[in-house]
Parts: sequence; structure tokens; C-alpha cells
Amino acid sequence: MKEFPLWIFRYLKPMKFLVGIAVITLILNALITSYLAYFVKVVVNSVFVEKNERMISVIPLILIFLVFLKGVVFFVNYYSMSYIGQKVIAFLREELYEKVISLPLEVFLKEPPGSFISRILNDTSLLQDFTTRQIATFFRNTLTAIGLVGVVFYQDFQLAVLGFLGLPLIGYVISRIGKRIKKYTDRMQDKLIVVTEHLFEAVKNIREIKLFSLEKKLSESFKRDNDRYIKEFMKIKRTEAIYPPIVELTGALIVGFLIFYGGKRVLAGETTAGAFFSFIIALIMAYEPIRKLGQNYNRIQQSITVAKRIRSVLSLSSEYELKDGDLEIKGDVERIEFKSVSFRYPNSEKRVLENISCLFEKGKKYAIVGRSGSGKSTLASLIPRFYDPTEGRIEVNGVELKRLKLVPYRKRIGMVSQEIILFRGTVRENIAIGKPDATLEEIVEAAKVANIHNDIISLPEGYDTLIGEGGVLFSGGQRQRIAIARAVLKSPDVLILDEATSALDSETEKAIQRAIDEMFKDKILITIAHRLSTILDSDEIIFIKNGKILARGKHKELYSKLPDYKKLVDMQFLSH
Ligand SMILES: Nc1ncnc2c1ncn2[C@@H]1O[C@H](COP(=O)(O)OP(=O)(O)OP(=O)(O)O)[C@@H](O)[C@H]1O
Ligand SMILES: [Mg+2]
Repeated sequence: MKEFPLWIFRYLKPMKFLVGIAVITLILNALITSYLAYFVKVVVNSVFVEKNERMISVIPLILIFLVFLKGVVFFVNYYSMSYIGQKVIAFLREELYEKVISLPLEVFLKEPPGSFISRILNDTSLLQDFTTRQIATFFRNTLTAIGLVGVVFYQDFQLAVLGFLGLPLIGYVISRIGKRIKKYTDRMQDKLIVVTEHLFEAVKNIREIKLFSLEKKLSESFKRDNDRYIKEFMKIKRTEAIYPPIVELTGALIVGFLIFYGGKRVLAGETTAGAFFSFIIALIMAYEPIRKLGQNYNRIQQSITVAKRIRSVLSLSSEYELKDGDLEIKGDVERIEFKSVSFRYPNSEKRVLENISCLFEKGKKYAIVGRSGSGKSTLASLIPRFYDPTEGRIEVNGVELKRLKLVPYRKRIGMVSQEIILFRGTVRENIAIGKPDATLEEIVEAAKVANIHNDIISLPEGYDTLIGEGGVLFSGGQRQRIAIARAVLKSPDVLILDEATSALDSETEKAIQRAIDEMFKDKILITIAHRLSTILDSDEIIFIKNGKILARGKHKELYSKLPDYKKLVDMQFLSH
């Protein structure tokens, strides 16, 4: 039990009062139960041995009162402990969620997203059983067992010692079984992660599944993994099922022996009949909590594994802990300079960017051009510091980017990436993500720049229309324009458009481009585009091939001196 997740108890802090009530009722519960067993002695001795008639009418009343009291105590205890347990899990879930979204991007490259989701959902629900039931059962049964065992020893010490000689045997069996269950639980949770990932991926890729008619194949592979999970699960159940019969049989052996031996003692006058009955009753009553403790022990073993896994996520460092700098950026972002930057994704060996040196300055328009897979998006993603260069450095206004505080710096970077993400909520909220206090006028203005205003006002509830699940679904081009409005509203110093208008018709694209050019003429504008017509008038075009800058310059220069670029341009314009 040395790995017992004690850290869970820190979540109890805000509930001290309730925890107090739970503890008091736990103790009361054990006391009353033990007293009931002790009470048997009074009953037997005064009624059956002394034949006291008055007691016959008093005893039932006392009994009913005690049982009633025990009921009330149990209710309060059960209720408060369940509440506490549930609250602990709620805190934990919140903390996990917070942690997951604070992790640096690198972590998501290594771990499939399904495994996080599985951790949050499966592991916390397993742990919920631990905090709402297992801990309560553990304490309730331990205290009750201690009380009852106390009665057993009190009533007949000699007999009790004999009876408890058998206990180490039961203890041994319990701990063996516990270890085994722990092992199987580990494996079962791993299999469950796979199962969850299946579902997660299927829902995400539902279109591809239909298009390539993958239903049958996927269902079969799901079934295989699901079967593996069931197999591990059943191993646990098999082990659990062996357990009660073994313990029960051992118990029967012990009690049988005690009745035989104790009976002889009563007959010989060495102890009273009342004490003997109270002894046997307390012993039998103690059996139930001890049996439950055994099961409980195994479940707790199971929970320890799960808790460890959750802890491993919680103990990951957040992005800010890992990479935050200590300098606040001063003034606007005016210069971003890449100095011999190379980059490799943490999950692959290949260098995606090699020795990139370039400068982005205020008041200029830049374009990054190159074949698909050449590294354009990767280069762009280094600017908001999604990743750090593997070699070389990036300087912002002459200060190394790593030394800057992330939040204030990222506030100044606007980016529309290739994959547009809309959040659940209204159109208005979606545009105002980067500036939650924006007025409706500002939002409308941004929407106009992005050429989406007219689309929005034709929606049933205009800017208050819900997007996504259960709401309005947008086309690819509309989503791009919402994302542009979002980036524009943030009024960043640097705007990066990564294929941001690729889904739009040329006319709309031109209109947006004109509006953005105007708005960002004093700022840094970086456009990544395959459709070259949009970037011909850039101040500098950076041509990337296989992660290296082949050349930089204005369109005319590149066209005359760089055959690769000329080819790219000619192909596009000839085919028009
Ligand atoms: N998360 C990732 N992990 C590992 N490698 C990646 C990752 N993302 C991209 N790459 C690799 O980096 C290279 C450059 O990708 P990048 O997305 O920067 O290309 P791109 O020029 O933007 O292409 P496109 O025009 O198709 O958007 C590719 O070879 C790709 O395989
Ligand atoms: Mg890209």
C-alpha cells in the first residue's frame, strides 16, 4: 500500500466541515455496531440465565432505538462521503482538463489524442468508485471490524487468541490476489485506451470511412480490440470470484472449531453463556466487514494503478512552466528575425527546416512560397512559438524569443492556419475569441474586412447564431472568413495567413486581400499561398524547397533568376 495515492486527500481541504461530519459518523457507526454485539451478552445473561422478566420488555426497545440510531448515522455518513468523493473527482477532472490544455504542443505529437480523452473519462470514472465508495467502505469496515474484534477479545480473550491464529492465512491469500488484480487492471486500462481511440478516430474521420467503405474493416478491428479488453476484464473477475469462497471456507473452519471448544468451556463453567454468545455473534458480525475489506483491498489496488496514471498526466509540466520567458515585450512587434534556424519535429528524425535565416519587418508584406510539404506551415508555427527551433534562434525586436513572456507576446500574433477550428458558441463569440470585450461594432468591422458580414446577417439570428453542434454549419470558405475576422479583430502586430483564402473564389479573395493590405500596411503581414496571384506584389517572396530557403526577393527578381520559381509561376498562369 506504499503507493497509496495520498495526494488525493489534498482535494478534501475545501470541505473540512463535511469531512468532519463524515469522520464522526464513521466512528459512531462502528461504536453502535460493536455495542450491538456486546449487547447480546446482556440479553442472554439477563433473560435466559437470570430469567429477569422486566428486561424482556426493555431489551426490544433498546434494540430498536440502537438500530434506528445506527440507521440515521449510516445515512448521514453514506450521503456525506458520497458527496465528498464525487466532489474530489470533479476537482480532479477540472485539474486534468486544465492540465491537458496547458500542455505544450510537443506532447500532443507524442501521445495520440484518444489517450488523453481516455484518461480523463475512463480513469477518473474508475477513480470515482475509489473516492465515493472504496475509501468510505474501507474506513467504515476497518472501524467496525476493530470494534467487533475488541468485543470478541473482551468477551473471551483465550478463545479469541485461538480464533485469530487463522488470520495470517487469510491475509496471505488476500494480498496474493490483490497483486494479481493490480497487474490485470494495468493491462485492462491499456486495452480500454485503444478501444476509446477507435471511437474517437472513427467519429473524427467519418467521411473517409464512408468514402472508402471502411465500415466493415474498422468494425472488425474494433471488435478484436474490444475482445482483448473483455479478456483482461474477465481475468480480473475470475480472480475476484475465487476470493469469497476461499475466505468463507477458512472462516467456517475457524468458527466451527470455536463453537466446539467454547461450548466445552461454557459447560465447564469457565465462562458465561452470555459472554460466549456475544463472542460468537461479534465474531460472525466481524466476518462481513473483514470480507468486504478484502474485496476493498483489491479494488484499492486497482485504484492505485489508475491514480498513478492520472498523476503522471497531472505532473507533466505545462507549457508556461517549461518555456515561459521573463521579459515582457516592449512596444509593438517590429522585427522578427530567424537566425540559422533548423527544426525537427520531436517525433521524427527528419529536419523539416534547415538553416533558415530571414527577416520580417514592420510595414512590409511577405510571402512564403514552395511545394506542398516544403516546410511553410512549420516555419510559420515557429513565430507564435508553438515549437522552438532545434538549432539557431529567433529574435523579436532584437530579443531572443525564448526570453519573452508567452501570453503578452502571443496576444500580438494573429494567425489563420490551414485547419480552421470553430468553437462551440455563437458567431459573435467565435470572432471575439482574441478580444472578448470587443463591441459589436468592432466585430462587425472585422467581419466586413473578412467579407463574411453579409453571410452572417442572413443567418436566422445574425451574430448570435450558434455554430457547430446543434447550430449552423459553415462551408469551408465561410469558416476561413470567420477565422480571418477573428484574427483581424485581435488587431495583431503580425498577421500570418496560411492558405487562409484557399477555399474562396478569386473575387472574394481579392476583396479580402485589399482590405487586409490596407489594415496591415504598418504591420507585418506574412502570407503563405499556393495561388500565386495573391502574393505577386509582396515586398519579399521567400521560396522554400525541402526546408531550405532557395531564394528571396521580389516577384520579378525571383522569376528571372530562379528556375524552380519560374516553373511554379508559369504552370499556374498558363493553365488559366
Ligand atoms: N506534426 C508533425 N510531426 C512530424 N512531421 C511533421 C508534422 N507536421 C509536418 N511534418 C512534416 O514537416 C514537413 C513540412 O510540413 P509543413 O506542414 O510545414 O509543409 P507545408 O509547406 O506547409 O505544406 P503544405 O503546402 O502542404 O501545407 C512535411 O514533410 C511533414 O511531413
Ligand atoms: Mg502548410
